[in-house]
Amino acid sequence: MNLPSINPTTTEAWNKLQAHFSEIKEVHMMDLFKDDTERVDKMNISWNEFQVDFSKNRITDKTINLLLQLAEEVGLKKAIELQFEGSKINQTEDRAVLHSALRDFNSMKPEVKKALQKMKKTSNAIIKGAWKGFTGKPITDIVNIGIGGSELGPKMVTNALKYYSNALKLHYISNVDGDHVSETLKKLDRETTLFIIVSKSFTTQETMTNANAIKNWFLQGATQLDIEKHFIAVSTNESAIIDFGISKYNVFPIWDWVGGRFSLWSSVGLSTCCAIGYDNFEELLRGAHEMDLHFRNEDFSENIPVILALLSVWYNNFFSSETEAIIPYTQYLEDFVPYLQQAIMESNGKSVDRNGSAINYETGTVVWGNVGANAQHAFFQLLHQGTKLVPVDFIGFSKSLHNNKKQHEILKANFFSQSEALLQGTYKQNAPNAYRVFTGNKPSNTILVNSLTPKNLGSLIAIYEHKIFVQGIIWNIFSYDQWGVELGKKLTNQLLSTS
Ligand code: F6P
Repeated sequence: MNLPSINPTTTEAWNKLQAHFSEIKEVHMMDLFKDDTERVDKMNISWNEFQVDFSKNRITDKTINLLLQLAEEVGLKKAIELQFEGSKINQTEDRAVLHSALRDFNSMKPEVKKALQKMKKTSNAIIKGAWKGFTGKPITDIVNIGIGGSELGPKMVTNALKYYSNALKLHYISNVDGDHVSETLKKLDRETTLFIIVSKSFTTQETMTNANAIKNWFLQGATQLDIEKHFIAVSTNESAIIDFGISKYNVFPIWDWVGGRFSLWSSVGLSTCCAIGYDNFEELLRGAHEMDLHFRNEDFSENIPVILALLSVWYNNFFSSETEAIIPYTQYLEDFVPYLQQAIMESNGKSVDRNGSAINYETGTVVWGNVGANAQHAFFQLLHQGTKLVPVDFIGFSKSLHNNKKQHEILKANFFSQSEALLQGTYKQNAPNAYRVFTGNKPSNTILVNSLTPKNLGSLIAIYEHKIFVQGIIWNIFSYDQWGVELGKKLTNQLLSTS
């Protein structure tokens, strides 16, 4: 069954939101807080180890009600069910979208269970030193060769969960930049390095160029027969893998119902699984599954991904905010923004609707950001005093993993005070001069998580995955294809063939 296809601008809610926007656009949030003492309690969602405070937004109860009405009118509930039931909602590629099925241990597809078992067995053997290289030495280094979704997710999670990692050293090669390949290889020993080639298609030019260069380097000190101890592939394209020389026992599956940018939960995450061990990897999946249940079952008014998506639509389509910043207050999440940039912008950067018509309203937001506190000393000037309205998601953790209490208090103080400063500005205060005036009234969400566990990270990532889906449904676009990347690929190949 197809997704509903409703132009959001034709709904009653959209028209009412337009009128409501004129009423609210000049209102200062400080006045909204003053007028409604229950605002903080009402605009807060407590879920598992998450506290999501969305009170610092330019909204009232009426805004939320109209946005919820919009979600109803575009058929969001039905769309969510179609996705989870496995309908082919990626219509332009005739595929289902079931990354949620990769983490549903209660009703897991047999092929997913089997792949997870293989990941468990392989990662255990590598971690324990039972997997030996061609000279009988255990593996010390793993190189993930992949690009886009075949790198950004696994790399982000591996770094985010460094606290839980073992002694294996992980490396990621994505860019078709020979210098980067050489820099990585110069530190490595053939005898103790395992290469995981991750490519759903096994035809991606950057990945295959790097994989072939690395195979040549490997063969300078080893034989063809040794490849089976040092090369693993994650792909749907079994024949290309065998042609490359990889043993069929070293092939991990991925399915066409898992989009590249949503694939970190599958065998694509094998490097992560080796880095943190299977049990932690499973916890990551379980955390995501709990968020799936919340998203699927919770009333929209208490539903974290739905609320975050609606707020994003509010700023994008009514306040004409073109960008959103995401600021995680932990160094562990330094790769979170690049990961989200692919997930969000490759999904929702579309300008044709689900009826095949050109769109005349704004779709995909531009997402950017960096870790706090570093970001405060880089681009926060623009957030506080620039001319652009940039809604921010602040992500913070109550506890430090290494129990660095004193420093963590400082980090948290920064986390809380920045959203407060964006809200208040110098509202009704006398600034010494015009340059010291902060208008405030800058919106933000505060996502406070107890600590950075594998489970909580899984839930956090799933929040953003579902937020993407909700926005795609409202904007009436297909979020799961990426035709826009094809033309550039074609022109690169044309250029190479004529040079
Ligand atoms: O170019 C975009 C893209 O298709 C992404 O969607 C994908 O994550 C990436 O390329 C890598 O693709 P593959 O896993 O097939 O090598």
